[in-house]
Amino acid sequence: MRKPIIAGNWKMNKTAKEARDFAEAVKNNIPSNDKVDAVIGSPALFLSDLMTISEGSDLKVAAQNCYFEESGAFTGEISPAALADLGVQYVIIGHSERREYFHETDEDINKKAKAIIKYDMTPILCCGESLETYEAGETAEWIKAQITAGLAGLTPEQVSEMVIAYEPIWAIGTGKSADANIADEICGVVRQTVADLYSDEVAQKVRIQYGGSVKPENIAEYMAKENVDGALVGGASLQADSFLALLEALN
Ligand code: 13P
Repeated sequence: MRKPIIAGNWKMNKTAKEARDFAEAVKNNIPSNDKVDAVIGSPALFLSDLMTISEGSDLKVAAQNCYFEESGAFTGEISPAALADLGVQYVIIGHSERREYFHETDEDINKKAKAIIKYDMTPILCCGESLETYEAGETAEWIKAQITAGLAGLTPEQVSEMVIAYEPIWAIGTGKSADANIADEICGVVRQTVADLYSDEVAQKVRIQYGGSVKPENIAEYMAKENVDGALVGGASLQADSFLALLEALN
């Protein structure tokens, strides 16, 4: 059985105080850790505070990005070594906003996945198609290509432990979530791609999230689907009560 994973992605939101207040409000109210992994993806600036506050609780912490080099002259970047040293457990990579606004390529993202795994953290590898690709009926091919490039050179064991998030770009922050059947179908494409690249065993282990306008009111529809193991949530993860409601909807 794959353990559900609900991850908030705060994107470029909150001040340090707001981040601390959120963590204090949720850390002792996470439903049983046996049932779900609860993760918050915070701007790098607040990760240290979040690690301190969440220590000993069931709240896990993700970075929203990192660089693939270990150290050096890369002004403004954050190394996987530094994140691992803080105790950060997950790193989101390949989000469509990073691909679009910061020109990240599949090759960069693949290097990041390897660097994150090297430091014993778990990548949350994002994939997703534009509205144009979706309307042209080319989603499956697009997703297969992103996943194949993102996983290049990783071992079966490494992929088994990873999280992959399917986020159709047209559903992000638009309030226009993908129908749960579409989410299931495309998460199934991700799983089949992993099966083709590795094996059915690896495909049955990898956790696959849906993301795009997920809210407490609709999360249960997605989680009921065979191929959806969790959600990557933007807007509805920003308030403590809403984040907790997402987790409680799984109980
Ligand atoms: P929303 O939940 O705000 O649509 O954002 C989804 C997302 O991009 C999470 O990474």
